[in-house]
Amino acid sequence: MRIVILGAPGSGKGTQARFLEERYKIPHISTGDILREAVTQGTELGREAKSYIANGKLVPDSVIIDIIAERLKGVDCKRGFILDGFPRTVTQADALQNILAKMDFKINMVLNLKVSEKTLIRRLSGRRVCKGCSANYHVEFQPPQIFETCDYCNEGLTQRDDDKEEVVRQRLKEYLTKTSSLCVYYKNQGLLEEIDGGKEILKVSKEVLSTLERE
Ligand code: AP5
Repeated sequence: MRIVILGAPGSGKGTQARFLEERYKIPHISTGDILREAVTQGTELGREAKSYIANGKLVPDSVIIDIIAERLKGVDCKRGFILDGFPRTVTQADALQNILAKMDFKINMVLNLKVSEKTLIRRLSGRRVCKGCSANYHVEFQPPQIFETCDYCNEGLTQRDDDKEEVVRQRLKEYLTKTSSLCVYYKNQGLLEEIDGGKEILKVSKEVLSTLERE
């Protein structure tokens, strides 16, 4: 199963990708997580990506395409994978098609999580992440069992720097100008499935599963 999850910032791509990873035992590949890890480690990639992320801009296509090309060669991707946050431009989508064609792979389905802007902003402003293991929470919709403490590793929670209001506005702008056209791109290939991402987490997961298992 080779799945791409599309959607605006805060639409729930990561949340649903983690659910599918658990369900199908295939890797969840998040370019946002890869880039944040590189920033934390202070690698060359991290130094290059840092200011783009901080300003809510996409990192250059050339940088991210090479990373995905390398990651998809991993043996754990043979049975399938879930791409979260990639592709984000038509150039990235074309590159993905070429990378997969060389491996004799094809995307099975592209899920687009549709969520209103008002809900996106509420989700992003309330998101908290674990300082230790990066698990995601939401102060209102997905709170930890103990206040501001990670359920998995007991570390404290923090807010992502790019979840501050002015950066969120820029991320949404980047999504509208550079990424949203991918829905048409994949619709023309007969791969796109629209999901109502505005419902509760479990209800969205249910719709995602029934869509994936309908075939
Ligand atoms: P990235 O980390 O990919 O950020 P994003 O796309 O903006 O997505 P988010 O992680 O903010 O949201 P999500 O849709 O995963 O929602 P989540 O499940 O977390 O990218 C960050 C940056 O890296 C980019 O700005 C760019 O600079 C760079 N980058 C990454 N990929 C790139 C690429 N391919 N090319 C170029 N640059 C790239 O949920 C959000 C919150 O809502 C959580 O708190 C969650 O608990 C809650 N929630 C989720 N679902 C629900 C629900 N159904 N109901 C209620 N609450 C919910």
